[in-house]
Amino acid sequence: MEKFIRDLPKAELHLHIEGTLEPEMMFELAQRNNIDLPYKSVSEVRDAYNFTDLQSFLDIYYQGSEVLQKEQDFYDLTWAYLEKAASQNVRHTEIFFDPQCHTSRGIAFETVYQGIYQALQDGQTKLGISSNLILSFLRDLSAEEAFATLEQALPYKDTIPAVGLDSAEQGNPPSKFKEVFDRAQAEGFLTVAHAGEEGPPEYIWEAINLLKVSRIDHGVRSMEDPELLDYLVDKQIPLTVCPLSNVELKVFDSMAKHNLKKLLNLGICATVNSDDPSYFGGYIAENYQAAQSALDLTKQELYQLAKNSFQASFLSPESKHKLI
Ligand code: ADE
Ligand code: ZN
Repeated sequence: MEKFIRDLPKAELHLHIEGTLEPEMMFELAQRNNIDLPYKSVSEVRDAYNFTDLQSFLDIYYQGSEVLQKEQDFYDLTWAYLEKAASQNVRHTEIFFDPQCHTSRGIAFETVYQGIYQALQDGQTKLGISSNLILSFLRDLSAEEAFATLEQALPYKDTIPAVGLDSAEQGNPPSKFKEVFDRAQAEGFLTVAHAGEEGPPEYIWEAINLLKVSRIDHGVRSMEDPELLDYLVDKQIPLTVCPLSNVELKVFDSMAKHNLKKLLNLGICATVNSDDPSYFGGYIAENYQAAQSALDLTKQELYQLAKNSFQASFLSPESKHKLI
């Protein structure tokens, strides 16, 4: 099964590039940039990855990101992820980046963008992995700050097909960003949003009805609303599910309790993704594997999940046809 999963051609649609920062690279970049870390060793960093909920993770994730300073740092981070993805037969990625996490520390938007984008270009030519970038707004910051970030992205909009919404969900509903997303759509961006990870099903409805999203990131709490489930099936609005993340952040008590298999078998276009792999104990293949063994997923179900990942992507119909 492990080989079947690794060899299955896959697309990764929910991956925060800052969440791929392995502790080893955190130390390397801290040294390179003369930054003091609050940890003495790699194992001390890993020991700190003991989360009680989304916020407890975000605190550590934003702190870790501070070692990212120069364009080369963003390039190295992204390249390391792409090499890992290639080793697990990921053929296409749609990668979130959180510019506000860096611009708030005085790093230029361009520095962040150029480092990531150059690596993605090299990923295409050297590894054969195609990529799309998704600019994600931090929902615990204001709509005005999101607007300012959107403005910074406009010169690069031809290479950033979509915008998204992440960070602390509870108390920061999608409706807070309706005007920003309206503007982004007017500028030609597609939209996605984290919703129904910790937040209620109403946030998923808002993401669909107000932000006009093409897919929902996480969305596992849709299970609490039968009408919403019917809608997701009927409209084939995909969910980018992240099994290891959900267990690590206590959205589910254990992988055996995860609702991925139920969602899939209801006819929802569910996909499997790694969210923040260096923090949650595994990349995409480990996510498929953990879900497979806990939920007894069949090869047919694994194949369907992988097929859904291409179907749910922003690839053109011709590219999808070639990859599926
Ligand atoms: N930022 C990085 N990972 C996230 C997640 N799982 N939910 C919300 N914001 C995030
Ligand atoms: Zn996420």
